[in-house]
Amino acid sequence: MQTKITIIGAGAAGLFCAGLLGQQGHDVTVIDNGKKLGRKILMSGGGKCNFTNLNVEANHYISENRHFCKSALKRFSQWDFIQLVNQYGIAYHEKDHGQLFCDNSAQDIVDILVKECQKGQVKFMLKTQLEDVNEEQQGFKLSTSQGCVYTDKLIVATGGQSMPALGMTAIGYKIAEKFSIPVVPVKAGLVPFTLHKPLLAVLSTLAGIALSVEVSNERISFKENLLFTHRGLSGPAILQISSYWQAGEAITINLLPDFNFEDDFKPLLDNNRNQSLKNCLAQILPKRLIEALIQLNLIVDLTVKQLTPTQQQALYQTLTTWNVIPNGTEGYRTAEVTLGGVSCDALSSKTMVAQKQPNLYFIGEVVDVAGWLGGYNFQWAWSSAFACAQAL
Ligand code: FDA
Repeated sequence: MQTKITIIGAGAAGLFCAGLLGQQGHDVTVIDNGKKLGRKILMSGGGKCNFTNLNVEANHYISENRHFCKSALKRFSQWDFIQLVNQYGIAYHEKDHGQLFCDNSAQDIVDILVKECQKGQVKFMLKTQLEDVNEEQQGFKLSTSQGCVYTDKLIVATGGQSMPALGMTAIGYKIAEKFSIPVVPVKAGLVPFTLHKPLLAVLSTLAGIALSVEVSNERISFKENLLFTHRGLSGPAILQISSYWQAGEAITINLLPDFNFEDDFKPLLDNNRNQSLKNCLAQILPKRLIEALIQLNLIVDLTVKQLTPTQQQALYQTLTTWNVIPNGTEGYRTAEVTLGGVSCDALSSKTMVAQKQPNLYFIGEVVDVAGWLGGYNFQWAWSSAFACAQAL
């Protein structure tokens, strides 16, 4: 089979790029190993797809080349995608931090992408696994589970490694390496932490408890919810910091992000002098969490009036700078994104083409650009797809 443009991956980036290219009059074929289009979109945002964010900025993305994403994000911004969503009359709402979700279902976003592809007469080869790519005199020979496909131009939109159960493969990185394009080492991002056994034994009893915290390390901090789970720590605050975490490093959890010592914490203690510390703190933190902190010897359960001013300060310090060293992360099984990928330095930020391989393009999550939680990863998929389509 011979095609002009082949896109590998019918995810957010591949489908959006295919629709644009088809409507520009190109002959486009999309190959995907799954049965359905846009499978990750369908399970995103709890089934409601957090399709973009009102506050898209380059510093909400992680990459070895932090400037790379700027050009594409500028040329196809969140407002452009919102316009498309409006054009299709899809109802959506804003959640915390500018996150936009479908009111109805993530299927609405897949339907938009499929209709855009239909308008452009895009062809699909589903249940087709790409196994290898070789350079031909003009273009590439693709070896797939359904035979060979010859294509003039190849767009790699194979995503990251998260959710391996969905059929994710490392083929995108292998293609890059085959053409001497560097790949930044990959690891799971936006992923829950696991804990060392002794700490897990205590904290797993808190599974299901969520509270607003500020989590930080030396590089960044996030004020969001933390969720205790049977396996460790999760919730938006943890997912966000996981993308900035190095193995072995501690994270610092401020359990009282809205409490100031003089104005809030000391008056609380002074007004409850005859109570046990446990009961006093239960006014501002879940009681089971306080019991866990006592069990971990981080707090001594005295009567409040027994605390000296220095001990009051120390208690506040303990609650606002709780250092936890995660055992690791849950890995790709539950990660929302893959950090690392095809090196931005080897690609054009304007067109996504490989600098040394004029007919080879990389878009979406396979590239070393990973967004924060909150619709940033889909926006990168739309923006990078648009940049690529404009170039062809
Ligand atoms: P994507 O992974 O979507 O698509 C790649 C496609 O290539 C897949 O269909 C795959 O099967 C196919 N493929 C791979 N190897 C192949 C091969 N060898 N042969 C053929 N086909 C192959 N982001 C966000 O902004 N808002 C959100 O709400 C969420 N929610 C969310 C929930 C969950 C559970 C996850 C795991 C992730 C998210 N994300 C998210 C992240 C977001 O889903 C992700 O960044 C984009 O889907 C990436 O889009 P791509 O098109 O780059 O890859």
